[in-house]
Amino acid sequence: MGIQRWQLRNVEPQIVEEAEPVAEVVESVIEASAPAVKRADVVSPVETNNDSEWWSLSDEVVACRQCELHQNRTQTVFGVGNQRADWLIIGEAPGADEDREGEPFVGRAGKLLTQMILALGYEREDVYIANILKCRPPNNRDPLPDEVRSCESYLKRQIALIQPKIIVAVGRVAAQNLLKTDAKIGEMRGRTYHYGESETPVVVTYHPAYLLRSPGEKAKSWQDLRMAKRVFLEA
Ligand code: URA
Repeated sequence: MGIQRWQLRNVEPQIVEEAEPVAEVVESVIEASAPAVKRADVVSPVETNNDSEWWSLSDEVVACRQCELHQNRTQTVFGVGNQRADWLIIGEAPGADEDREGEPFVGRAGKLLTQMILALGYEREDVYIANILKCRPPNNRDPLPDEVRSCESYLKRQIALIQPKIIVAVGRVAAQNLLKTDAKIGEMRGRTYHYGESETPVVVTYHPAYLLRSPGEKAKSWQDLRMAKRVFLEA
């Protein structure tokens, strides 16, 4: 019927012609399996030549008091995953669950993000996940420009250390701040941007929290991820 579903495999995403609406399939996958987010160490134990740089960066983040957000945080949320990942996923900022656990995307939206990663053909541990902000904004409000500025160098340094082959920005806030644009997310989807001197390709998709509120948009997000996979394979 021309409808595609997300099928969880360890290889390439499988596109299957399928009669069930994609939103229902994804929803049922999430509800049936709802895996506890499988945890990787906050700074992964993978040995790299850059261990000391990772440790000093993570020490700086832990001690950061550059903006007001340090006052109400339980802890900073540095980032998680494979320090040599090909795929870097960037979200907005920690929420309550992440502030409590010290790891990005561990709440409901995190479970959906993990499913999206699986649908791409990877385990959560294969990719690196970080946010624009390392501290939770009160009541999950949007990051303020000075908070983004204060945090920016941390993410830039993470990107320089990881040297990902592709970046997926999830949600408007991540995309706008990473790409320095005011464009709406609907305008940013479906195009490939390039980040920094490395010109790392960036693909934009919806934030998983938005997809939980608007499950009808999941098919579009899957289109974005398939596009990202194509860009990655062609790079
Ligand atoms: N939303 C985000 O953008 N990042 C997280 O880590 C959690 C929820």
